[in-house]
Amino acid sequence: MRLVLLGAPGAGKGTQAKILVEKYGIPQISTGDLLRAAVAAGTSLGKEAKSYMDKGELVPDSVVLGMVEERLKQDDCKKGFILDGFPRNTKQAEALDNMLNSLGMPLTAALSVDVPFDDLMKRLTGRRTCKACGQMYNIYFNPPKKEGVCDKCGGELFQRDDDKEETIKKRLEVYNAQTAPLIDYYKGKGILKSVAGTGSIEDIFKKVCDVLGLK
Ligand code: AP5
Ligand code: ZN
Repeated sequence: MRLVLLGAPGAGKGTQAKILVEKYGIPQISTGDLLRAAVAAGTSLGKEAKSYMDKGELVPDSVVLGMVEERLKQDDCKKGFILDGFPRNTKQAEALDNMLNSLGMPLTAALSVDVPFDDLMKRLTGRRTCKACGQMYNIYFNPPKKEGVCDKCGGELFQRDDDKEETIKKRLEVYNAQTAPLIDYYKGKGILKSVAGTGSIEDIFKKVCDVLGLK
């Protein structure tokens, strides 16, 4: 499986990617996670990225493309990969096609997770993530048993810096203008699949497996 996950901020790309990773043992490549790790490490790339992320804008293509190429060349991607949050615009999609063609591992599918616009704000303002293990929660839809504490590992939960209402609005605008056109891009290539991203996380995962022909 060499998969791109498409969908608006809050559609559940990361949530579904993590279940696919657990079940099929192929790596998730989230450009958002890679960038946040660079920010936390205080690298020069992280410092540059942070100013864009805090505003809800896309980080420049040159920064993201280099990072993804380096990751895709690692050995564990030979068995497949799930790209989450990348590509984000047509330029990134074209660069990805070129990269993967030269590595001899073209995409097998692009999966669009579709969620009505009105649901996204609540999903994003309610998101909490475990500092220790990365497990995701939502204070409205799937709260932890004890407030602020991870059920899985007891780690502390935090809220992402860009999950503030104003920044979320900007991220949704950027998605509509720059990322949504990729649905047609992949439709044109004949590899687009879609699932409705509303309902329980488990039911959506079943639909994801069905549409991708996974057992
Ligand atoms: P990134 O980290 O990629 O964020 P995003 O695309 O905005 O996506 P999210 O992680 O917010 O949402 P998701 O779809 O993964 O939803 P999740 O599963 O978490 O990007 C952040 C920033 O980094 C960008 O703004 C940009 O600056 C930069 N960046 C990243 N990639 C870039 C690139 N390629 N180029 C340039 N810049 C880039 O779920 C959300 C919440 O909903 C959670 O609380 C979850 O528990 C809940 N939830 C999930 N499923 C359900 C369900 N079925 N029902 C109810 N709640 C649910
Ligand atoms: Zn945890």
